[in-house]
Amino acid sequence: MALFKRVIDWIDVRIGARDLAQKQVGDYLLPRNINVWYSMGSILLFIFVMQIVTGILLLIYYVPDADKAFKSVTYIMNEVPFGWLIRMCHAVGSNMMVLVLLLHMFSVLFMGSYKGPRELNWVTGFILLTLVQGISLTGYLLPWSQLSFWATTVATNSANAIPVVGHYLVEFLRGGKLVGPATLGRFFALHVAVIPLAIGALVGLHLFLLERIGVSTPPFGLKETKNSWQGKEFRYEGHPGGIRFFPNYALQDLTSIAIYFACFLGVVFFDPYLFFPRDAFLPANAFVTPAHIKPEWYFLANYQTLKIFPNELIGLTVQGAAMTFLALLPFIDRGPERHPLKRPVFMVCTLGGILLWLGLTVWGHYS
Ligand code: HEM
Repeated sequence: MALFKRVIDWIDVRIGARDLAQKQVGDYLLPRNINVWYSMGSILLFIFVMQIVTGILLLIYYVPDADKAFKSVTYIMNEVPFGWLIRMCHAVGSNMMVLVLLLHMFSVLFMGSYKGPRELNWVTGFILLTLVQGISLTGYLLPWSQLSFWATTVATNSANAIPVVGHYLVEFLRGGKLVGPATLGRFFALHVAVIPLAIGALVGLHLFLLERIGVSTPPFGLKETKNSWQGKEFRYEGHPGGIRFFPNYALQDLTSIAIYFACFLGVVFFDPYLFFPRDAFLPANAFVTPAHIKPEWYFLANYQTLKIFPNELIGLTVQGAAMTFLALLPFIDRGPERHPLKRPVFMVCTLGGILLWLGLTVWGHYS
């Protein structure tokens, strides 16, 4: 303990670490009516770190070569001590990350925290959403199973619907006319280097904005729920008389992370193949097309949208329009009111949107 204190003292006299920690953590005040939804972001940070750690461990035995990838994953599952646990944590974690990401987005939507001055928090968050989709899509190919091969074939094929540049784009994504070893090479580079670095940088920016602007005050439990920011000058939203981040809210964050972790381990130990269809256990075969090839649950709505329109271009355009609308939401919905029940148009559209997405997902699953 004495040694630990001496190390801290040594660092402290050089960079003022105690003062910094006190200002950034101990004196950091949060709104008195803060709720549990504000801990979703911390759960996401926890999941991201877990994905990095388990991903690095998988890299020790995984071989990104079309002839060896499937065998190397089988080896991880059957021979490497606790390899199955690491792989299951990584695969289940990726699904849980999307789930928590959606919950975080819904809470931000319903509490109106995306409204000015937090438009950039929303935009950086939205880019994170697309990056997380990208990292899942590229990771799906790496085990080089039937599922990987054919899901990637279907997903990359949809770019063909884009007029003029479509087929160049498909070839660029695949590194050739068909999904093959070159596709594995580029998806591997994207999955283990490019996208994780981009996510890391964007998370940094997301947190910088949070720190710079201050956490929003939840619209619940207050008489005045309107956003008082006029949009004329920068104003830090402090919370005098609020609760401390450390130790008070940090304890809430830890509790939420513990509850999340219990659910996560529940899936890993009691239903590890929840997210694995049968074709995930067969090696890729370019000559045998499986009867039912489906994307992961969170892409089912996109997949179903492509199927219900008479041509894929309309399906892609509709999805592009929906994503652009979502990305630009803070610039479209600019009213000062933040309480969800006092925003009836917003409530109808958002609940309608969520129900539509759920309906398309269920339809995609059973179709
Ligand atoms: C890897 C993904 C993400 C991470 C690690 C992350 C992390 C965080 C953290 C730690 C906070 C502060 C506490 C909280 O409100 O939960 C936060 C706030 C926020 N996030 Fe995210 N986030 C992610 C994705 C997203 C997405 C997809 C969106 C929306 C499209 C988003 C929009 C926001 C907004 C608007 C805030 C400000 C909330 C406020 O001040 O009340 N984030 N995020």
